[in-house]
Amino acid sequence: MRLRCLLLPCAALFLAATVFAAQPMTDAEIEIAVEKLLSQMTLAEKLGQMTQRHYNTKSANNPVDSAAAVRTGQVGSFLNPDSVETVNKLQKVAVEESRLKIPLIFGIDVIHGYRTLFPIPVAQSCSWNPELVEAASRVAAVEASSAGIRWTFAPMVDITRDPRWGRIAETLGEDPYLTGQLGAAMVRGFQGKKLSAHDSIAACAKHYVGYGAAEGGRDYNTTLIPEAELRNIYLPSFRAAKEAGVQTVMSAFNDLNGVPTSGNPFTIREVLKKEWGFDGFVVSDWESVKEMIVHGAAADLRDAGRLGINAGVDMEMVSTSYHDHGESLLREGSISPAMLDDSVRRILRVKFRLGLFDNPYTDTTRPSPLLSEENLRVARALTTESIVLLKNEKALLPLSSEKAKTVAIIGPLADSGTDMRGCWSCKGEASECRTVYSVFKDYVGPKDKILYAPGLKHGSSTDTDDISAAVKAAKKSDVVILCVGEPHELSGEARCRASLDLPGGQDQLISAVADTGTPIVLVVFGGRPLTFSKAASQAQAILFAWHPGTMAGPAICDLLYGRANPSGKLTTTFPRSVGQVPLYYNHRNTGRPVPVDPKAAQTPLGTAEDPKGYYSQYLDLPQAPAYPFGYGLSYTTFVYSDLKVEAPDANGAIAATVTIANTGTRDGVEIAQLYTRQLVGSLTRPVKELKGFQRVALKAGEKRTVRFELPKQSLGYYNNTGRFLLEPGKFHLWIAPNSAEGKPAEFVLGQ
Ligand code: NOJ
Repeated sequence: MRLRCLLLPCAALFLAATVFAAQPMTDAEIEIAVEKLLSQMTLAEKLGQMTQRHYNTKSANNPVDSAAAVRTGQVGSFLNPDSVETVNKLQKVAVEESRLKIPLIFGIDVIHGYRTLFPIPVAQSCSWNPELVEAASRVAAVEASSAGIRWTFAPMVDITRDPRWGRIAETLGEDPYLTGQLGAAMVRGFQGKKLSAHDSIAACAKHYVGYGAAEGGRDYNTTLIPEAELRNIYLPSFRAAKEAGVQTVMSAFNDLNGVPTSGNPFTIREVLKKEWGFDGFVVSDWESVKEMIVHGAAADLRDAGRLGINAGVDMEMVSTSYHDHGESLLREGSISPAMLDDSVRRILRVKFRLGLFDNPYTDTTRPSPLLSEENLRVARALTTESIVLLKNEKALLPLSSEKAKTVAIIGPLADSGTDMRGCWSCKGEASECRTVYSVFKDYVGPKDKILYAPGLKHGSSTDTDDISAAVKAAKKSDVVILCVGEPHELSGEARCRASLDLPGGQDQLISAVADTGTPIVLVVFGGRPLTFSKAASQAQAILFAWHPGTMAGPAICDLLYGRANPSGKLTTTFPRSVGQVPLYYNHRNTGRPVPVDPKAAQTPLGTAEDPKGYYSQYLDLPQAPAYPFGYGLSYTTFVYSDLKVEAPDANGAIAATVTIANTGTRDGVEIAQLYTRQLVGSLTRPVKELKGFQRVALKAGEKRTVRFELPKQSLGYYNNTGRFLLEPGKFHLWIAPNSAEGKPAEFVLGQ
């Protein structure tokens, strides 16, 4: 017989509660318990479960007394509680003083770590390492749950092709397949092996859907996405999160084809819930139900609530249309009792799955997992794998004491813990982030010298007074480590930029340092792809480090000094100029593509007065990106040969092999990428689509044949009526180091 604790009346018994809640409920038991509870609920209690409030202590500005709202069953969840004590206190009111004793669920944005900060998600994706990304999310869950948080609003699985959008930092790159793989890894990490375990937290795939396609990269902006594009590009990562068992999904802010996504019955009820069979719940984004009034889709708050409930948004974040108007909407028949029951059923189901009924409290007597040695180890490993080596002329890197006796550390981001955190830094402290400068002494020889000169007071500063000191330091040094890029406040929600250039006086600083002739290693931080071609030409080596988190310094220095070999590869296309945006690898061909000859593609073909080629191109800059999707260097070199596609097996699955040789003198990891192209389709198909990848570890001089298997289904796509098509015909297939290299093999997909 199952041992299950009673809801314990006293906070002192938290530990006992944990001990007795040994066996999780089965799915069948959960469904019975949900129905039983549902049958006892009043309408007000149902609407209460569908309401999520922002935690605030009662004040003149915030008239809601949280405890009173919980006691009377008017709230099912809080976001952003201020402490574990608050969590336990409100939980106690919920499970002891409310009529039905339904526990609360507390959520917060644990986006790339709770206290131990991992690199921002777009950086994590450059590791192409689902296991490590999963491990990082596990750490984040363990840390967050120790503070009473059992729900994170992550992973973000939005696709964007626009680096102007500040939230590109939170994405997992521009590719639907890779985003799906890594988003699923995050879901597994957050939710753990057993959702009811005290250290598992429910994940939330967001923002459903199309949010990343905002016009002009302006946050919250309009999106216009045909159904085929929606299903082929924007929906697959949500589907992958669903298949990985994600418990919640967040509806978005954007208007999709004229219908706000938080009032969109097609995407939520039809696709997510009916077609895919998602049985968790949908939460709105912050007041995104209410914002339907501003969109011009709802007349007033009541109308907004009607749209949200009809669309299938089960829980309303912050705004109160469900709470205030649910009853009258039901009375007039604009929403149905079945809709409310469906929403409440979903919310209760997730609460049961999390074990909150059995074990509502957070045990504060456990040792704190925050910033543990093991957590920092995972952060260091993931940060190292997230950083991308973009250039390494004359093998300047890795450095050594022999190569550089005096090193100048220059740049406004060299010792800025704040800027290492990136957006959504949750409980991560700037002072806990190890910067390049703060750890550098551990890497140089005992007699070597380190000179430090920030050059600018802040990343965005235009005051150039300190540049002369940086120049002096550079002159006295054998090498300069120049730490530049975007300060954290230029990245994240509502942090969109019309320019992707290095901000403030950074270009001036770099030019002044370059003029000294001392070799430069550029370490570029940022929350998005940046445009820095001039700086790139002035530097001998470049590491793109993103916003790397707590272990920034150790990971970067491990790479600088060759204690680790770079393996990260870009997951977003880096344009040369903001004018090229949107620029992405999986575009269509058009009828007038730029010639494939790389020389022609790199050279402008004419001038505005005398255009030489009628191609889909710009006259005033080379067409290729600065760095393509999938690009990244290593301290060793890899050579690909012998690409072969095997005949399809009985199920039509395709297998392909390639031999990869490590031709350099260092051990390394190569991220091999498989792309396909359907040459002719009933809808035009992208010139390349990522279908698989493998991290291949090869010792210096070693070579290995790697094999990829592609299920037949992976070669299909959706058309504009939502039909999935698998069309027979010719395909090209590449296994290559990035999206711009390699020669394809051809195969034919049969009937
Ligand atoms: C708004 C953001 O769009 C969303 O991603 C986040 O989870 C909520 N605010 C809650 O903080």
